[in-house]
Amino acid sequence: MDYKKHVQIVEDWPKKGVQFKDITPLMNNGKAFKSAVDEIVEYAHEKDIDLVVGPEARGFIIGCPVSYALEAGFAPVRKEGKLPREVIKVDYGLEYGENVLTIHKDAIKPGQRVLITDDLLATGGTIDATIQLVEELGGVVAGCAFLIELSYLNGMEKLEGYDVLTLMSY
Ligand code: PRP
Repeated sequence: MDYKKHVQIVEDWPKKGVQFKDITPLMNNGKAFKSAVDEIVEYAHEKDIDLVVGPEARGFIIGCPVSYALEAGFAPVRKEGKLPREVIKVDYGLEYGENVLTIHKDAIKPGQRVLITDDLLATGGTIDATIQLVEELGGVVAGCAFLIELSYLNGMEKLEGYDVLTLMSY
């Protein structure tokens, strides 16, 4: 499917010089959204996934339907101060800003096979931090799936040695 026709490019948002890739039109189209989720589910199928992990907020939108289809659990990675129980955390850099990501300490059991999902791979800061959290808890990153890769920001360099699926590249 040509997913790009469902992605709207917004100039200078959230700040000047950034070309924001808005996936809400894709989510708004039932066929396109289902097709994207199905492709990720198919990619994950032979990987024996126990758990899907997605970073706030758009990683939830992709990860939850995938986890449902795989009959795997879902664990949210959230920005600091959002999870109510004991967490581990990591600092990370964004395409535009800095942040801290956290995960509940008991979200992953050692040896569990994890699929990480997000809408977008930009600089790779978010996925790198998410991988650190998963591995610190003893999870095995069996795959990473994104709707979009911004290849000019070289995030893929942070994913060397990992299995990655991207549905669109800019
Ligand atoms: C966006 C996007 C990815 C991340 C990619 O999330 O959804 O998670 O940035 O950028 P990176 O590869 O440079 O780290 P954002 O932090 O804006 O959070 P949101 O989904 O809550 O808006």
